[in-house]
Amino acid sequence: MADQLKNIDACVFDAYGTLFDVAASARRCAQDIGERWLDFSAMWRKKQLEYTWLRSLMGDFKDFWHVTGDALDFTMETYNIHDPVLRSRLMELYLKLDAYPEVPKMLENLKARGVKTAILSNGSRTMLTSAVRKAGIEKLLDHVISVDDIQMFKIHPSVYQYGCDCLGIAADRIAFQSANAWDVAGAASFGMQVVWVNRFGQKPEKLGAANKPTFEIRSLDRFSQLLGE
Ligand code: LAC
Repeated sequence: MADQLKNIDACVFDAYGTLFDVAASARRCAQDIGERWLDFSAMWRKKQLEYTWLRSLMGDFKDFWHVTGDALDFTMETYNIHDPVLRSRLMELYLKLDAYPEVPKMLENLKARGVKTAILSNGSRTMLTSAVRKAGIEKLLDHVISVDDIQMFKIHPSVYQYGCDCLGIAADRIAFQSANAWDVAGAASFGMQVVWVNRFGQKPEKLGAANKPTFEIRSLDRFSQLLGE
């Protein structure tokens, strides 16, 4: 494995799971959901992602807000929870997910070094604007790029191409960070230098040796050190 990221002109971040804690919404409603709230949250996230992949394969794009709501409906039905007020609160909280604690300082460090920063996310524009504002990091991001603009979800190559087009930077000069191993494979396959933020110590996906991350870290705490001095 390399010892540093090389010739990086921009650091681009996945949003959900990487900068923002997707379990934060269900955690705040744990009393209403019950003791299985973490499993509930995991199913909601899993179904949300499945729907993005399936809708992309079907060519039937609906934005991430719509897909997140559909995934929540599936999960609530599975847990036999019929509570429109709780549904609204869970969705409302999804607009204001907590950022992981190290994120603001990490972005401040990159900006202090003059590094261009961006989000490239499946999130709808409204969702991302809300989450970035709630986390107070809007001034630390040069671009917030949503797949809304191209109506296709990750890991279709057109998403990573759109990121390069928005930034005007070639893929191999972009450091892409994601906590989602499948997103890591997609970005690596497209030619970006990729850092897997393996927050939960997961096993690597079996998606081909060429599609592995350049680095694997457990949080973004010391990410900027990978950029060298
Ligand atoms: C995103 C989700 C997939 O932010 O994590 O793109």
